[in-house]
Amino acid sequence: MSEAKRLAAEKAIDYVEDGMIVGVGTGSTVAYFIDALARIRDRIQGAVSSSEQSTQRLRQHGIDVLDLNATGPLALYVDGADECDPHKRLIKGGGAALTREKIIAEASERFVCIIDPSKRVDVLGRFPLPIEVIPMARSLVARRIVALTDGQPVWREGVVTDNGNWILDVHNLRITDPVALEAQLNQIPGVVSVGLFARRPADVVIVGGEPPQILD
Ligand code: A5P
Repeated sequence: MSEAKRLAAEKAIDYVEDGMIVGVGTGSTVAYFIDALARIRDRIQGAVSSSEQSTQRLRQHGIDVLDLNATGPLALYVDGADECDPHKRLIKGGGAALTREKIIAEASERFVCIIDPSKRVDVLGRFPLPIEVIPMARSLVARRIVALTDGQPVWREGVVTDNGNWILDVHNLRITDPVALEAQLNQIPGVVSVGLFARRPADVVIVGGEPPQILD
């Protein structure tokens, strides 16, 4: 699948325009995108990064990493996903970077999602849904999730997010109404963010292949 990821990432370069500040996601597909972006780094102003991992790679390539508070709204955000449904709604957060990813997606006019074909599903939920929680609320949030859904929350033990929080992965969900579930889970005290990108789905999805498939 890594070749499909690389092909999707290369195609996303078509959406980068001269002078842009590019929002950059996290993960193995995005790593290919950062490598491709490096080839045109003189044409862009810089990037806003969604994780320490991506920041490091961007800087290694000599790309300036800027603060979202200073840049204001962005024209473009490029990121991967763990699952994508036919409406371009996503599950994200396999790499624990969901909160900053969600912030940058929200701040961006156009969200281009780059995936390999294995990420496409009819109904979201096969991939365990990541939820970032304030550490002291972990078991409270888990209990509320059990009461609210058919899913089983599992603590991603040992993982601390870039924001100093923890992750619960909710297994065995079949998410037929992702917008409603996202809103409900966001209401639980202690939830920082939910890895469902349904209220703000991707605008364009690039599925890596020869040729890449574009859903827009
Ligand atoms: C990071 O937290 C995630 O949202 C990633 O975008 C997602 O896990 C996709 O990762 P890969 O590109 O490594 O498959």
